[in-house]
Amino acid sequence: MTESPNGAKTGAVADVRQPASYYERHIFFCLNERKNGEQCCAHHGAAEGFDRCKMQVKAAGLSGPGKVRVNKAGCLDRCAAGPVAVVYPEAVWYSFVDNHDNHDIDEIVESHLKNGRVVERLLIPGDVGR
Ligand code: FES
Repeated sequence: MTESPNGAKTGAVADVRQPASYYERHIFFCLNERKNGEQCCAHHGAAEGFDRCKMQVKAAGLSGPGKVRVNKAGCLDRCAAGPVAVVYPEAVWYSFVDNHDNHDIDEIVESHLKNGRVVERLLIPGDVGR
């Protein structure tokens, strides 16, 4: 630990004992929309995927403290893979298709959010960014 010019202690590790994580898992959906024609998740079914996830998590009884939280997010800067969602605490990034014929979201909910098994086929390659 050192002392700054104003006398404040710096470099100390704060004693921030936390209870168990409030949510077991947290999934964030990018819902960002760009009106200038650039790639964005909003133009690739992001809102439908978010709505589907909320509905499926609730239907499965997974929502709430100690379980799963589904949240909207702005741009997550991985637009080229959009639509994207990321699950924490594992920091697993997914791209998905969710429409009348294909419900990738259902698989993410059942496999990852419910059972902790990553859905390998939906992973975004590590080098895909904006
Ligand atoms: S617009 Fe969705 S990650 Fe950037």
